[in-house]
Amino acid sequence: MRPEPGRGPNAFDRISDMVRALERSLISVKHGVKSLTSGSFWLRYSTLASYRTLCAGASALTGLTRSGARHADGNMEASVEYITSVFNMYRNAAGVERFYGKIAEIGPGDSCGIGLMFLADGCSQVDLVDRFFSRRDKHHQQTVNRALVQRLPQLSSLLRNGDYAESSFSRLSRHYGESAAAETFFQANRDYDFIVSCAVLEHVYDPLGALASAASALRPGGLMLHQIDCRDHGQFSESFYELKFLELPDLLYSPLKWRGGPNRVRLSAYLDVLKKLGLDFTVYVNSMAGIAGEIPHGTLLRDVPEPVLRVSRQYVTDVRRHLTMPFRSMSDEDLMITRFVLVARKSDTMPASGVAGTGLHNAEL
Ligand SMILES: C[S@@+](CC[C@H](N)C(=O)[O-])C[C@H]1O[C@@H](n2cnc3c(N)ncnc32)[C@H](O)[C@@H]1O
Repeated sequence: MRPEPGRGPNAFDRISDMVRALERSLISVKHGVKSLTSGSFWLRYSTLASYRTLCAGASALTGLTRSGARHADGNMEASVEYITSVFNMYRNAAGVERFYGKIAEIGPGDSCGIGLMFLADGCSQVDLVDRFFSRRDKHHQQTVNRALVQRLPQLSSLLRNGDYAESSFSRLSRHYGESAAAETFFQANRDYDFIVSCAVLEHVYDPLGALASAASALRPGGLMLHQIDCRDHGQFSESFYELKFLELPDLLYSPLKWRGGPNRVRLSAYLDVLKKLGLDFTVYVNSMAGIAGEIPHGTLLRDVPEPVLRVSRQYVTDVRRHLTMPFRSMSDEDLMITRFVLVARKSDTMPASGVAGTGLHNAEL
């Protein structure tokens, strides 16, 4: 256990350490269960549904979640590398030299690192907005924050003291709980130049409501950037095929969504919201069904090489008949595009309330 500098470990640290130790010992059990259930879809489903129900109960009781705890067990270099790569993805997708103004990151999880990079770029305010409190290692957070300040010395002027805890940086605010759910936060917090998220909207209960709400909180000319992963997050794909989870009817799938499990909202549903609101948008494709490996960042669907498109289209044609409704009747693209970055701009003339205007939409879908 690593106490905070200047004080002994408190009850919260002790509980977090115990949870961490328990989780470590559960990892091998989890692998064992995965391999035991790899031969039967229904066995895998019932094990997963029971496990998710237990996790949801435990998380509701303790207020802690494993979702978003990416940095809890990592090393400093790996954390800084992840933070930098997500930040660069945002910057490339936004097409800006530097971020500026007021910015909100939805679902940052256990690190404020990306928020710090926005501040180093020159943003005046960064709001970190998370419905849940991801389990975290405070000492590791401080180490990562210190490393970021060393790389980006302009951050030192924002440090209120020598402890590199998240709370020591001015212009950086954390928001937690129901009032910080993406679905509700933006009703009271508005006028953002940028609203971003990475690997979050697929975990949100009402991602379409959240997207609309975030859009309405943008300033005219403001930009949203969301990386969304519509895959099954390893639930069935390692043992069965990657779209297997789309065979389950909604009612049966429900427990798999609880407390951070992936929802099954596909690309066109997000685009319909943006079209309705009159926002301009662009979609960059990151991964496709039936294709191993990632599509390079910054690739529009129309720029994906023809042989790759052909393989992916054939893949969804082959599996479509197994899928449940509404997935069975979705467009090829909705099933083919499994991970993407959505970039949406509110027009300069649109009122801040975000009511529809005349947006130009990319015709790539
Ligand atoms: C998979 S983690 C991603 C964390 C981080 N963005 C990353 O790239 O590692 C999903 C995050 O979304 C948060 N989240 C889930 N539902 C949310 C909601 N309705 N509003 C805001 N955050 C939410 C979770 O608490 C968690 O921090």
